[in-house]
Order: sequence, then C-alpha cells, then structure tokens
Amino acid sequence: MKAGQIYKQITAKNGKHVTLRAVRWEDLDACLEFANRLVDEREIDPDFGIILDKRQTLETEAEWLGDKLASIERGDQVSLVAEAEGRLVGNSEVIRGHVSDEFHHGKLGISVLKEYRDQGIGLQMMKTLVDESRMAGLKTIELEVFASNPRAIHVYEAAGFKQVGRIPKKIFRKGHFTDIIVMAIEL
Ligand SMILES: CC(C)(COP(=O)(O)OP(=O)(O)OC[C@H]1O[C@@H](n2cnc3c(N)ncnc32)[C@H](O)[C@@H]1OP(=O)(O)O)[C@@H](O)C(=O)NCCC(=O)NCCS
Repeated sequence: MKAGQIYKQITAKNGKHVTLRAVRWEDLDACLEFANRLVDEREIDPDFGIILDKRQTLETEAEWLGDKLASIERGDQVSLVAEAEGRLVGNSEVIRGHVSDEFHHGKLGISVLKEYRDQGIGLQMMKTLVDESRMAGLKTIELEVFASNPRAIHVYEAAGFKQVGRIPKKIFRKGHFTDIIVMAIEL
C-alpha cells in the first residue's frame, strides 16, 4: 500500500461523491482541522466516543502524519481517509500488531466529520478497511467502542464485527465512568 492510494469512489446517501483513499502528506492541514474538530466535539459532548483529548498544533500533527506515512510504507498499517467536496471528512486505520505473534492482527479506529455522519460513509469505510486488511494479510481485527455509542456499534455489526467482551469502567471522563465494548472480526 502507498500513501495517497485510491481504493474506490462511492456515493453517499445524500448523493455526494466520496473518494476513499490512503492518507498523504498533502493532507496535513486537513488532518489538523479534522483532529481539532473532534477534540472540540469531545469537549461539548461528554459521551463522545473519541479519546483524543488535546487540540493539536501544526507541529504535533506533522510529527503524527510523518510517523503514520512511515508506518504505511513499512506495511504496518492500512490507512483510509474519506474525501468529499475537497474536504477530508473521514479518517480511519487498521494498525498491525507490533510483535511477531500478532503480525496477523490489527486494531481499528474510525471517525467521520459531524455533518457527514449518517450518510453511509462510515459503513463503506469499514467494509473497505476490512477488504484492504485482508489483502494485506491480516487474519483478525479488533476495536473498542464506548458502550454508550449505539450508532458506532450498529455500523461495526453491519460490517461483520461481533461483540466479544466488555471492559467495565475503562473510561473515566468528567466524573463519570463508561464501559468499553470490545468487538472483533475474523477475515
Ligand atoms: C461511528 C461513525 C464512524 C459511523 O460513521 P457514519 O458515516 O455516521 O455511519 P453510516 O452513515 O455508514 O451508518 C450510520 C448507521 O447508524 C444508524 N444510527 C444512527 N444513530 C443511531 C443510534 N443512535 N442507534 C443505532 N443506530 C444509529 C444509522 O441509521 C445508520 O444505519 P443504517 O444505514 O442501517 O440506517 C461516525 O458516526 C462517527 O465518527 N461518530 C463520532 C465518532 C465516533 O463515535 N467514532 C467511533 C469511535 S469507536
């Protein structure tokens, strides 16, 4: 897999054209805006299922993206962003295990920009990530989701993931505990 590689073009439920592709260096500014939109949303909604807790700067985001592109080049992760109307509207990845016993196993993360949710983009991203991970040689993928996030759980189940466990009170935010549900798929 290469940075910027295009996987497919899809049409969202609202008719907008969306490109699913790997991230590339030219996405730096868009990635920064995307990350900070999520952090801002987390501040407003205590149940928001994203754990990134600090606004990023151009420097921290450039370091993150540089590391990510190197990881993609090494084959250590499958990256997938969604681009619509010239904007980065979704970001996701599956990161391969770091030790030899887990090279066949990946951990998945995904988010879609607020105004582009419920348009079918997240499910298409999930299905494409699963296909690309299989082609990359992965055999299993896991993810963690807030138990208070029924939309994400619905999308993951639609993509073939099954609930395999629950970690009580893993999340503590603003004085409140939230359970984590662990989900997995065999490819
Ligand atoms: C979770 C997320 C990635 C899904 O992406 P998306 O583009 O919104 O997903 P889709 O549009 O493909 O599908 C949404 C589905 O959830 C359903 N849905 C919406 N709200 C729901 C709710 N409260 N309960 C159950 N299902 C719900 C929609 O009806 C749709 O299902 P359908 O196509 O069968 O009708 C995205 O909503 C998101 O980024 N959310 C905020 C961040 C987050 O929670 N990330 C996941 C962290 S683990």
